[in-house]
Amino acid sequence: MPRYVINGGNPLKGEVEISGAKNSALAIIVAAALATEGESIIENVPQGRDVGTICMILKSLGVDLWFDSQNRLHIKAQNLNRYQAPYDLVRKMRASFYCAGLLLGRLGKAEVPLPGGCAIGSRPVDYHIKGFSQMGADITIEHGFMKATCKKLKGTNLFINRSSVGTTINLMIAATLAEGTTTLENAAKEPEVVDLAIFLNAMGAKIRGAGTDIIRIEGVDKLHGTEYSIIPDRIEAGTFMFAAAITGGDVVIKKVVLEHLRSPILKLEEAGAILEKGANEIRVRAPERLKAIDVETSPYPGFPTDLQQPLVAAMCLAEGTSLIRETIFDRFRYVDELRRMGADIKVERETAIIRGITKFTGAPVEVTDLRAGAALTIAALAAAGTTEIYGVEIIERGYERFEHKLRCLGADIVREETSEVSDIFSQIDEVKV
Ligand code: UD1
Repeated sequence: MPRYVINGGNPLKGEVEISGAKNSALAIIVAAALATEGESIIENVPQGRDVGTICMILKSLGVDLWFDSQNRLHIKAQNLNRYQAPYDLVRKMRASFYCAGLLLGRLGKAEVPLPGGCAIGSRPVDYHIKGFSQMGADITIEHGFMKATCKKLKGTNLFINRSSVGTTINLMIAATLAEGTTTLENAAKEPEVVDLAIFLNAMGAKIRGAGTDIIRIEGVDKLHGTEYSIIPDRIEAGTFMFAAAITGGDVVIKKVVLEHLRSPILKLEEAGAILEKGANEIRVRAPERLKAIDVETSPYPGFPTDLQQPLVAAMCLAEGTSLIRETIFDRFRYVDELRRMGADIKVERETAIIRGITKFTGAPVEVTDLRAGAALTIAALAAAGTTEIYGVEIIERGYERFEHKLRCLGADIVREETSEVSDIFSQIDEVKV
């Protein structure tokens, strides 16, 4: 089990390059398997654990995937012929449920485990299932699986209750090969949804309106492989922006799309950071001390829920009291860990009330979920003394070479393997022998 050991206090300085967007990659890799002709070659795929998991799931369904020497992912899906997604892999990540849209679109049959609860609260997939059913699939829920069949999905008008990212992606994947036109109303407008639509159109799909709240998908008979490069990860970029601001740093964050970062940029400026914008980069210089601000998370283009935790970590050291309201998920469990580092945070329903302190103190802490892991890491970089962060394999689900990138910016961070309890038993056996 890996952990980070961080000696805080070094201001981050230098340049960092942002990887491809994890959430785009997960959708695009699954969508690539809709093609019955040719192969897709995808560039800028971030090599985190979640991407590895989705590749393994597709392999188990009969899809050929491999990385070439330039780290481009090749996907050939002519042999996709199995419709049962394995529980052991699907349980690791909710986005695995995108396989349901793929299998229904391609094979007209899908057996996919329902994702369970997770560390950021209950995350149902009822909107996805309702959409498949309205498109004509016969669906039963049995033994923890969604079992769905259809001759061919039929295009129809679908209204998504909340502008859910996952539902928009799954239904878009399913609708590309459906009979007739599907309209998704109240669709998510996130850049990752737009990225998927551009990719699907390059495969021969007919999708209009992605990036607005009405997406129209005219079904086509077949799709072919294509070459594509995934957009930069706006959440990774935002995490480095907060890391620079909290450590008193001066960092140029390269390979970003500034438009995707509008809300975090405005909020950091409001908190007193000095931001210089270039064409595909942004320089973040920390002020003497950050100022408290109030923020509410909301769907794009609002402040992303995935940056709420790094923001909270930064506000813990700001002058004054901040109110941070989380409207998407139940995402404040990690504040107990920040409190162990000295943070003064009170949570009332969906709002965190943060009174600024002047310094975190290093402590052993545990990662509860991906973005909480990023928040604890950047808090540790600004802390007095040493912080040990346990559970960093969760951070590695979504951040590519996180500790390496931080080390290149001057952070005193090492990744260590700790022994598991089971190792003790093998040591006992060795002694007995
Ligand atoms: C995606 C992102 C995640 C991000 C989130 C919100 C991926 C792989 N993950 O998650 O990083 O934090 O968007 O921007 O892209 N809901 C239902 N029923 C459903 C579907 C959603 O009630 O069937 C609710 C959720 O519980 C949540 C809200 O709708 O409260 C929005 O969730 P959604 O946008 O679907 O998030 P994900 O796609 O799971």
